[in-house]
Amino acid sequence: MNLENKNQVESRSGKIILLEKDQVLVDLITFSLQSNFNFEIIDVSKVEDISHVLQDEQNVSLIILNYNYGNECLKFVSDILQNQQKKILLFLIASKADISKLAENPTTTEVISTADTLNELNQIMHKHFQRDQRSISSPFCSIAARTLIRFNGINDDVYVQLKTGRFLKLFSKKDLITLDDITHYARKGVTYLYLKSYTGKWILREINKNFQQNLTALSTGGKVQLDSSTRDNDFKEDAEKFKINPATQKILTVDKEFVEEINLAVNKSMTLIKKNPTLGAMLRKLRVNRDKKNYFNAHIGMLSNISCGIARLLGWSSEITLEKLVFACYTHDIALIDHPHLAQIANMKEFEQKYNELNEEERTTYLNHSKDAAELISTIPNISADIESIVLQHHEMPDGSGFPHKVESQRISPLSALFIITHDFVDYIFRNKEWYLDDYLELARKKYPFSTFKKILTTMEKMRDAQQ
Ligand SMILES: [Fe+2]
Ligand SMILES: [Fe+2]
Repeated sequence: MNLENKNQVESRSGKIILLEKDQVLVDLITFSLQSNFNFEIIDVSKVEDISHVLQDEQNVSLIILNYNYGNECLKFVSDILQNQQKKILLFLIASKADISKLAENPTTTEVISTADTLNELNQIMHKHFQRDQRSISSPFCSIAARTLIRFNGINDDVYVQLKTGRFLKLFSKKDLITLDDITHYARKGVTYLYLKSYTGKWILREINKNFQQNLTALSTGGKVQLDSSTRDNDFKEDAEKFKINPATQKILTVDKEFVEEINLAVNKSMTLIKKNPTLGAMLRKLRVNRDKKNYFNAHIGMLSNISCGIARLLGWSSEITLEKLVFACYTHDIALIDHPHLAQIANMKEFEQKYNELNEEERTTYLNHSKDAAELISTIPNISADIESIVLQHHEMPDGSGFPHKVESQRISPLSALFIITHDFVDYIFRNKEWYLDDYLELARKKYPFSTFKKILTTMEKMRDAQQ
């Protein structure tokens, strides 16, 4: 396993030197800055190290210094900064008693009180740094492993970053991470672990609720108990940013032209469907119910966007292919239009689980819906055989466990494979309030270890880059 040890997710836009004795505070400041801004933090413990870092490193924008190093130290740093050609900001962390003495220092840009360090630092950072230095919307944030284990009640997955940039789940939410685990990974050079961003932000909010008390607890070897009841609000905020929205808008339909291409495909599909009396009547039913929660509308919208998005990543996004995909999205479950509860049954396994809840007619309707829809579509003059086969095969599985024909991977067309995976992914998004692409891909790789399917899943990894 090729593990990444640096405390950075992607290339950062600048560097901050942090001179602070208290290791816990170093970890908390780093955690906070990296959750909110796009800087690499270089922490040093001796004042002389600042000049070394400035000699070796380009692009240092800020020095954060704790005044408990003393006036001499401040003078030393001020002299260095005055001799620098480039403007580097200096923020001082100081106690209330010291703050009044510091007003006169010419190089100090800002003074941050020790009472509420992270909140004040955050506000001041926003004042001085432009948008491009704010944190990119990364779904993960880094935290020093030794600090991470000091929080009780995180109750979320913990990741490690590989050299390739990918994130790998190291501990699941149920695991208890011990000091032994941390020591074990530290020996391998891994001192930083990763949390989902919204979990990181929630922990920061919890720390900041009573900063001094929490810092004292952590600095004296204690632990901080997180309050899980404050977690949901934050989740909702981030859910907006990272979940459904990016999946349908940002990740896959990144530019306007592509959205227009999809819309064009939708319009063409609609015109074609309307011309067919049976399909047309079904489409009208779909249109009448514009309730946002309506399963079909939400399902079809997501399917269209995501399937076209993946097709584009695969390089299969000719106008004609997009039209085929969109048409299949609108029609694949059309035989279930009056039975949304049946359309939500994902596969044979779920069908068997629900078997006793369904009556005979429902069972037959479900088992035949792919064939019935394909048959309806075949009545449209000049319809592409690809659309028919996507619709017919949309519940087939590459290992032969699907239906209606139990075909295996060699007989599943590439476009059907794309549709099957997209359908599964959309289903996963719908069912998991907290979904992440990596989690899905991990499951999907086990489910679809076959050539075309594998290629599609590998291509879907690119979506993660767009998500960040
Ligand atoms: Fe469906
Ligand atoms: Fe279906």
